[in-house]
Amino acid sequence: MPRDPSKSTDSSGISFTAFYTGEVWRRHGLSVPFLSSREGRMLYLAGRPVEWLGKALLGGNNETLLLQRHLIIDHILERAVLEEGVTQIVEIACGLSPRGTLMSRRFAGSDIHYVEADLPEMAVRKRRLLERAGELNARHRVIDINILERDTPAALESFFARELDSSRKTLVITEGLINYFDYPTIHGFWTRLAACLKAFPAGIYVTDLYPDFQWHRSVRVANVFKSALALATRSSVTLHFGSEAEIGGGFSAAGFDSTRVHLPESYYGVLAIPLMRTPSLVRVIENRV
Ligand SMILES: C[S@@+](CC[C@H](N)C(=O)[O-])C[C@H]1O[C@@H](n2cnc3c(N)ncnc32)[C@H](O)[C@@H]1O
Repeated sequence: MPRDPSKSTDSSGISFTAFYTGEVWRRHGLSVPFLSSREGRMLYLAGRPVEWLGKALLGGNNETLLLQRHLIIDHILERAVLEEGVTQIVEIACGLSPRGTLMSRRFAGSDIHYVEADLPEMAVRKRRLLERAGELNARHRVIDINILERDTPAALESFFARELDSSRKTLVITEGLINYFDYPTIHGFWTRLAACLKAFPAGIYVTDLYPDFQWHRSVRVANVFKSALALATRSSVTLHFGSEAEIGGGFSAAGFDSTRVHLPESYYGVLAIPLMRTPSLVRVIENRV
């Protein structure tokens, strides 16, 4: 029977893309050696022709966008910790992200708790890598989660109730996740997340997002990439929202009180992010309850 992605809670077809991103971070000096993977190196080489084409046509490519979103999320997180007193960070769909390790090392002497979370298979792998490197401890953990499940130990609500300290200012990150799901599915997750975050003294949700880019001069190239990605990951790759106003409306309808849209262009010359010759296709969204 053909699989209906909107009904299934199995989105593990997406997981392999985490290896690619992990390798991009590694090559740009943003990761740690023990998170490098053979799968990542192979995918990176396989992706070169498409990345080359993207660069020629768009003046920047997928790799550029991966770096832009990652560094902007890092910047927002750093500010929330240093200026707002966030002490609990949850990175959902962490994949091979080095952020938990780098943040835990940087704030080793302070009271920062970092919880990485992913589907069980990826979580086992990440836990093993961190454990071998001596990076796991009570303040830096890896926990199973499945944002599509309800009423299971890996469901969002169970995860929040069991794993998090509701007295801490908390920031949740998703990176490279939300565009793999259709709007009703991801909006359902956002609504549940906003409800969970209301239990904390401060609740912030930071995510990247690829909006609908009908206005972009290279829309056809981007659409081919989107279709290929949907096929490869067996998922409903969807570009949500056509404008900043729609983004704000979507997160407000999900229960967030405020939404700020960060454009990479506003960080050119401010953060060390790579530039795109044409308008960037990625946004970073900062939501608060
Ligand atoms: C594109 S990767 C992003 C990983 C990492 N954040 C990055 O930027 O490279 C997507 C990640 O989402 C995880 N994932 C897929 N479906 C998920 C779900 N239903 N719940 C939680 N994580 C999921 C995958 O295992 C994978 O690690």
